[in-house]
Amino acid sequence: MTLPVAKLAVLISGSGSTMLNLAHAIDSGDLPARIVLVIASRSDAVGIDRARGAGLACEVLPRKAFADVETYSNALTACIDAAGVDLVCMAGFLCFWKIPAHWVGRTLNIHPSLLPDFGGRGMHGMHVHDAVIKSGATQSGCTVHFADNQYDHGPVILQRTCPVRPDDTPATLAARVFAEERIAYPAAIKNVWLSMQRQIGGCRP
Ligand code: GAR
Repeated sequence: MTLPVAKLAVLISGSGSTMLNLAHAIDSGDLPARIVLVIASRSDAVGIDRARGAGLACEVLPRKAFADVETYSNALTACIDAAGVDLVCMAGFLCFWKIPAHWVGRTLNIHPSLLPDFGGRGMHGMHVHDAVIKSGATQSGCTVHFADNQYDHGPVILQRTCPVRPDDTPATLAARVFAEERIAYPAAIKNVWLSMQRQIGGCRP
């Protein structure tokens, strides 16, 4: 039996490199999925043009346009529900989304450190790599996890590691970690989707 295609919503706030990596993995046949909708939390996110340039539908739901986390979360949930997707993938999404019960367990996040280290509010992008270098750690990497209602928190699906070199800058470490992210995120999404299909008897083990 052929594995059905997972319909994805991808949430972005920045450059969209993670989103494009997923699109690339789909195009190369490594990830049985389709990006149904990209949602950007900032109207100036570079990823908006990159998503549309790649032929992906992209809605802009600026956090700034909403008074509080509650109203933003409700609007985001409505947008995701309307898209009819199977999984939600946070891809450099820097806003807090109060995840409703029906999306817990179907929402994934990727973070550029070995969680639980160097995660949480304010820990994103170069801040993470700067903190890792300053800590003296000799190993870093990335984590894909199910998202819950705390920043960078929830059951780990997959981690990949890489060395921290003595002469690393945040930028050189970020590039090494991102090389691992490129492998980790499509693989983790595929694993989750396969296990969901097995649970509903949609494909053979
Ligand atoms: C990725 O490195 C991702 O791990 C990180 O943001 C980057 C994506 O940015 N996510 C977090 O830090 C979540 N706390 P981009 O795809 O916009 O380039």
